[in-house]
Parts: sequence; structure tokens; C-alpha cells
Amino acid sequence: MSGFPQIFPGYPRPGSDALHRTAVRCVAVFAASSAMAVLGFAGAASADTAPHESGSATAGPPHGPEVLDIAHRGASGYAPENTLAAIEVAAELGASTVETDVQRTADGVLVFMHDANLTRTTDVEEVYPDRDSYAVGDFTMEEISRLDAGSWFGEEFEGEPVPTLQEGLDLMKKLKLGFLLEIKASSNHPGIEEDIAEVLHDNPWFLSPGSLPGKPGYDRLAIQDFNWEVVEKSRALYPDHVPHGLLGRVPVDQLEDYSWADQVNPNHNQIDEAYVRAVHDAGMEVHTYTVNTPEDMQRAIDRGVDGVITDYVDVLLEVLDGSASAAA
Ligand code: G3P
Ligand code: CA
Repeated sequence: MSGFPQIFPGYPRPGSDALHRTAVRCVAVFAASSAMAVLGFAGAASADTAPHESGSATAGPPHGPEVLDIAHRGASGYAPENTLAAIEVAAELGASTVETDVQRTADGVLVFMHDANLTRTTDVEEVYPDRDSYAVGDFTMEEISRLDAGSWFGEEFEGEPVPTLQEGLDLMKKLKLGFLLEIKASSNHPGIEEDIAEVLHDNPWFLSPGSLPGKPGYDRLAIQDFNWEVVEKSRALYPDHVPHGLLGRVPVDQLEDYSWADQVNPNHNQIDEAYVRAVHDAGMEVHTYTVNTPEDMQRAIDRGVDGVITDYVDVLLEVLDGSASAAA
């Protein structure tokens, strides 16, 4: 990334400035095309891998023939994770869906943040050097709004703010993106699933089933958590049904116990074709994370997964194009 910012010198700080956003987005998309080459992407499925059997009774997604592309923490390979810039870059690269992590501030505002602490992805220790705790839940929204969540990733993202859930929803709706919402560190935020549901019910665009732009039959929203009790509680808060995913690998002999869920979303190193089939047989989908090389993407597709979560959504889209061409 550091070789590109001189193309767009002097971005104004911060946040919602349109010129700034356009500039960083262009830089990141330019970087994405370079990264494709670095990753050694060839642009087509390799000859010795079988295409995804989308018509198979056991391996095909329940919702349609395509594998869903999901930009992990936004396009986090090219822009700072869990920021509006990362969502914008994901859309620019052609993503249909973005994943982000949601936590709650001390005064009850829902924000995008992966780590339980603010230290890795913001300048919180410089701005607030004397705090005993840097946990997300120990800061008010007003305090968090003073943080820079972009510079750690690249100077061209200086001033990128920590977004609220509502700001993220507004941007995703504007960009016609689907949303895989991860409830993050939920044990630190008791009842956060209820706060999230309250916000989502005020954003009905996301609740319309089977209406993901460009992908008829796919949903605009799904919710997931590593804490499966929270997943079950959250699912009950959406009477008209929002798909919910169990993050991690549910043991095969317990799949029937969890078949009230809609997705099982394990690490891609934890699955094989038999596991994906077992989840499908239990009536659920598999959206696997975090799959960052073309080889691993193709392997996951061949195993029959329904969605692939990646930091490099442009690479995934090329692999999916190659799979579709090979199957035609
Ligand atoms: O979407 C799945 C993935 O995001 C879970 O892992 O640590 O990146 O939130 P993590
Ligand atoms: Ca996540």
C-alpha cells in the first residue's frame, strides 16, 4: 500500500469527506489489482480440481446455485478492517456481502470492532495514555469518535473513524450490499443481541428475505456468533426470520441438536466434503472463513460450501468465475 498514496496527495482528515473516501478507495482498488498478481492468481479454476456441483442433491446450497462471496471485516486485505472505507472498497471490488464485527460502547452504542480492546486497530493508547483499560466497553461513543482506526493500516487511511452499526448499515444499504453481522465478544456485552435487533428492526431494508441485490433468493442479512446460546437467543428476536449462523465446527453427532440454526460457519481448515454434506443433511448451510488463497478458495468450493468469507473478495470472485466457466 505504501507505494500508492502519492497518487492522491493531501487527503483532508477525516472520516465522511467524500473526496477522502474516493481517494482511499481508488488507492485500495489499485492495490487490489496488484495483490492479485502477488497472490499468483491465474484467473481460472485449476484443471485438476472438479467444479462445484451446484445441481447435486447433497452438495448444492439450499438457497441457489451460487457460492456467496463475503468480504471479511470489509475488504480487509486492502483497507483497515471494520471501517467504512473497507466496506466501500469491498463494493468497488464487486462484493455482494460484507462481514463485520459488532460490539457495544460504555454508553450503549453499537460499533464495528473485532478485538475486545481498541489497541491494535486504533490510536487509543496515544489519545488516552492514562487509561487502565482499553476495552471497547470501557469507552463512550464520544471518546471512540476521537480515534483514528485507519493509520495503523496505511497512512492513506488516516482519520478513518470507528463506525457505528447504524453508519455501517446506511452505507451497505446505499451500496446495495448484504451483511453478515458477527456479534463479537458477546460475553463482554450481555444482552447485545437485543440491542442489535432493536437497531435492525429500524432498518427494514435488511430484513426483506431473499432480496440480496443481484442475487435473487439470497438474504440481505445473516447473524452469527461463536457463542451458540447467543445465536439461539438472537434468532428468536426476528419473528419474520433472519438466518443465524453458529461460528465454529459443530460436531457431526450434534448437528441434529442444532438444526434450529441456519448456518454452521467453521474455519476452512476444519471441514471436508463429508462434513459439508452432513451440515446440509441437517438442513443448514456452510459459510467458511477466512479463505485467502485461490487454492484454498477452490478447495472450499469443491467441498460444497455455500459461502466463502475472505479478506480478498476480488480474488474469490475470480475463482468463482473460473468455477462457473468450468461447470458450463
Ligand atoms: O466471519 C467469520 C470470521 O470473521 C470469524 O473470525 O476472528 O475474523 O471474527 P474473526
Ligand atoms: Ca468476524
